[in-house]
Amino acid sequence: MSHPITCIEDLRLLAKRRVPRMFYDYADSGSWSESTYRANETDFARIRLRQRVAVDMTDRSLASTMVDQPVAMPVALAPTGLTGMQHADGEILAAKAAERAGVPFTLSTMSICSIEDVAANTTAPFWFQLYVMKDREFIGRLIDRAKAARCGALVLTFDLQILGQRHKDVKNGLTAPPKPTLANLVNLATKPGWCLGMLGTKRRTFGNIVGHAKDVKDVSSLSSWTAEQFDPKLSWDDVQWIKDRWGGKLILKGILDPEDAEKAAVLADSGIVDALIVSNHGGRQLDGALSSIAAVPAIAKAVGDRIEVLMDGGVRSGQDVIKAVALGAKGVFIGRAFLYGLGAMGEAGVTTCLDIIRRELDTTMALCGLRDIADVDARILVPSTMPDAAAFASMR
Ligand code: GLV
Repeated sequence: MSHPITCIEDLRLLAKRRVPRMFYDYADSGSWSESTYRANETDFARIRLRQRVAVDMTDRSLASTMVDQPVAMPVALAPTGLTGMQHADGEILAAKAAERAGVPFTLSTMSICSIEDVAANTTAPFWFQLYVMKDREFIGRLIDRAKAARCGALVLTFDLQILGQRHKDVKNGLTAPPKPTLANLVNLATKPGWCLGMLGTKRRTFGNIVGHAKDVKDVSSLSSWTAEQFDPKLSWDDVQWIKDRWGGKLILKGILDPEDAEKAAVLADSGIVDALIVSNHGGRQLDGALSSIAAVPAIAKAVGDRIEVLMDGGVRSGQDVIKAVALGAKGVFIGRAFLYGLGAMGEAGVTTCLDIIRRELDTTMALCGLRDIADVDARILVPSTMPDAAAFASMR
């Protein structure tokens, strides 16, 4: 028996061994030079916590809410494309693990398992992430399907009308399912567990799209699909019709600038949106953009209490979660962290990931001298190590 799994990095290393290269690379990469992808993690590491001692540490609570929904800890699973290619039926397995852990699961538009597949295999309401495509009729029907599945929130992605290039995806010829080229077959031969899982499921391409959208030429390729179908004209004015069609909780994902956060807050003032996610799409879109955690303080300051602030990008530990909460995020999303767990060990790996993060968060909070996540604020951070809320101050 190998060593016990004690941290997210262990899951990453195991996933790297077990998942075909093109899908591991798809998850574990950023756009162009990957500088923003790396900054998402390294900027978290720069922030220092204040160690407090000899305070009562009994009866701790991590329970909170995200868009008014109770969560066991302020963590949700992020929408990630092709999750069912990290492991057979990946979205269903991750949603089940999230449900058991008492945290929300967010299904991507570009998932392998469909909205209906996930709904049929879970009882807790999951959230649905929406990409807006040129075919508005299809998008309307997609929203209706999320509604019929009683999804708890719609997460509207605002930062991917066109796709940032990730070199490895181009070099690997990323498709779902993989094409039977010699290079792919050689690599797949070293991943017997993955292959066996895939032989045992019918879900091997984009389940929300295939059989639902018209005129689909090459659905297996995410890059050609986005280039052909995603709507480069998506605008702030679209939020209203999406809200009207949807009717429920609406979250805007991909806000990284206080000026855009202000626009989101205006929509929140009139009840159209409920929350924003500070995000640079995991460093997969604008390479050179600020890290997500560095953008949180200025955005939290710009919007105050007008709209709930959530964040994603670079969260690999409970320490990262508490730092984001301390800087003003009501909750965080984890993407790669749970994908590593899924690729490593399926549903049990996602459970392990969530257990690791929960334990780290709980212990970290206690060692910072607090017992309730609701009490966490910037006072737990060493001030000189905090990202600066004035980062954007001289902009106007
Ligand atoms: C979007 O689906 C991505 O690959 O980042």
